[in-house]
Amino acid sequence: MHIVHTIAELRQQLSGFKRPAFVPTMGNLHEGHIALVRQARPLGDVTVSSIFVNRLQFAPHEDFDSYPRTLDADAQRLEAAGCDVVFAPREKDLYPEPQTFKVHPATDLSDILEGHFRPGFFIGVSTVVMKLFSCVFAGMPGGVAAFGKKDYQQVMVVRRMVQQFALPIEILAGETQRAEDGLALSSRNSYLTPEQRLEAVHLSQALRALGETARAVSGLPDLAALEAQAMQALARRGWKPDYLTVRRRADLMPPQGALADVPLVVLGAAKLGNTRLIDNLEI
Ligand code: PAF
Repeated sequence: MHIVHTIAELRQQLSGFKRPAFVPTMGNLHEGHIALVRQARPLGDVTVSSIFVNRLQFAPHEDFDSYPRTLDADAQRLEAAGCDVVFAPREKDLYPEPQTFKVHPATDLSDILEGHFRPGFFIGVSTVVMKLFSCVFAGMPGGVAAFGKKDYQQVMVVRRMVQQFALPIEILAGETQRAEDGLALSSRNSYLTPEQRLEAVHLSQALRALGETARAVSGLPDLAALEAQAMQALARRGWKPDYLTVRRRADLMPPQGALADVPLVVLGAAKLGNTRLIDNLEI
């Protein structure tokens, strides 16, 4: 496995290949990332993963500086998973000058939920993903890029970006990997104290309960009331919920009318201490 830092080195490593399988990450890898590498690998002729903590997607008060950087351990895990090339640019490699050209995703999708609570987040994500795509796929007839469904809205934003820019890239959405107790694997779980780690599973449990309650209503459910109750229940356990909500899978808008036969996803974000966790369940 080759570890490269510059775009030129990356392109040199990829020359001669036709269909990269790409897994972009911010490092501090867990089994969720590794599962994506394993799923993407057979779909390309070379497997690439990037490790880059992208300043553009962090607000000034967020955890950009403290975000765990564990390149050596990450590289070992990637090599064991069969990755061929790790692209670990330094900031000066990816952003040699301030990135003034940015990708602004459609606001109907990117200003809600995560985008509402993290303004500018999806501009930062779309911009870096577009740039990473151009580093990995430029000159290639096509390829595949894998993203985890834990970041459900992110997958939808990236899919729409690829579609609207007619990029020859297939997007693979990998299922969320969970710990035994049901907690969605996330790099940010490492911020949790042992006590918080035990409590953390209640986010996915609250989402499941909300989904089951909503599905059980015959006729028109009062979703706003059910969502408020779910948030209050979590708040009583000491969480600070941003949202727990039932949305249509197609566009992440609130469902209108009866829920029967509508593919839905329950999404949530809440802070436990200083750690903000997100999760979702398709119901
Ligand atoms: O999901 C992530 O880790 C990041 O948002 C991504 C896609 C690597 C872009 O920085």
